[in-house]
Amino acid sequence: MTVRSRKPYIAGNWKMNLDRSRSLDLVKTVKGRIGDGNDREVAFFVPSIYLADVSAVAQGSPLGVGGQNVWFEDDGAFTGELAPRMLREVGADRVLVGHSERRHIFRETDEWMGRKVRAALDNDLLPIYCIGETISERQGNRTDRVLKKQLDAGFAAVKSDDAHRITVAYEPVWAIGTGETATFEQVDQAHATIRKWLANKLGEEAENIRILYGGSVKPDNARQLMALDSVDGLLVGGASLQAETFLPIIEYDA
Ligand code: PGA
Repeated sequence: MTVRSRKPYIAGNWKMNLDRSRSLDLVKTVKGRIGDGNDREVAFFVPSIYLADVSAVAQGSPLGVGGQNVWFEDDGAFTGELAPRMLREVGADRVLVGHSERRHIFRETDEWMGRKVRAALDNDLLPIYCIGETISERQGNRTDRVLKKQLDAGFAAVKSDDAHRITVAYEPVWAIGTGETATFEQVDQAHATIRKWLANKLGEEAENIRILYGGSVKPDNARQLMALDSVDGLLVGGASLQAETFLPIIEYDA
C-alpha cells in the first residue's frame, strides 16, 4: 500500500461546460459526500461567471473552488481578463495556471506563466501549474526538455517558502479529452522528472508540492493511477462534469 506524505488532491476542471443550475446541483451532491476533507482535498475549477454562486453553495464545506485562468496585473486595460483579487472577491481560493488549452488554443506564452503563478500566490490563491508535452514532442523524445522548460517558466519567481502552496499537474496534451491515458510507466517517468527538478530548484520544501496527473482520468483508471507512488492526485476534465463519474474518482480507494 502507498504510504502518502502528501494529502491526495482530486480536482475537477469543468472547462466551458455545464450551466448555472447543473453546476450548483453537482456542487451540492459532491459537498454532501466529501465529509470533513481530512483525508483528501477536493476542488472544482469553474467558469468564472459561476464562481460567486458555486462558492456560496460550497461554503461551510472543505470543497475548494477555483478559477480556470487568471491575469497577473491588479487592474488596468486588459479587456476580458480577470485579476487575482477579483477571483478572490467572488470566493475562489485557487486557480489553474497554464492549462494546455490556454497555451495551445489561446497562445499563452511561457513568459506569462511565472508572473501568473507569482500573482496567484501574492493574492492568496493556490495555483495548480499545468504542464505537459504534445504528441510530436513526445515522439521526438523531447518530453523531459519540454517539461523542464515549462517548469523553469512557471517557477521563475517561486521561493522555497511558497512550495507548500503550489501544485503541479502533469497533463500530456495528447491525453487530454482524447480517451487516451498515458501508460503508468509514462506517468511515473514524467512525475519523476518533475519531482527531481522541483527538488533541485527548491530543496527540501519541494517535498510539499503535490504532482497531479491529468488526461482522460476516468472511474476505471483512477485507482490504478493513484496507486502510483509518484501520483499525488488527479486533475479531471470530462469525468468531473457528473456526480456519477466524479464521485467514484474522488472515492478511488473505496
Ligand atoms: P480530460 O481533461 O479529463 O477531459 O482529459 C483533463 C484536463 O484538461 O484537465
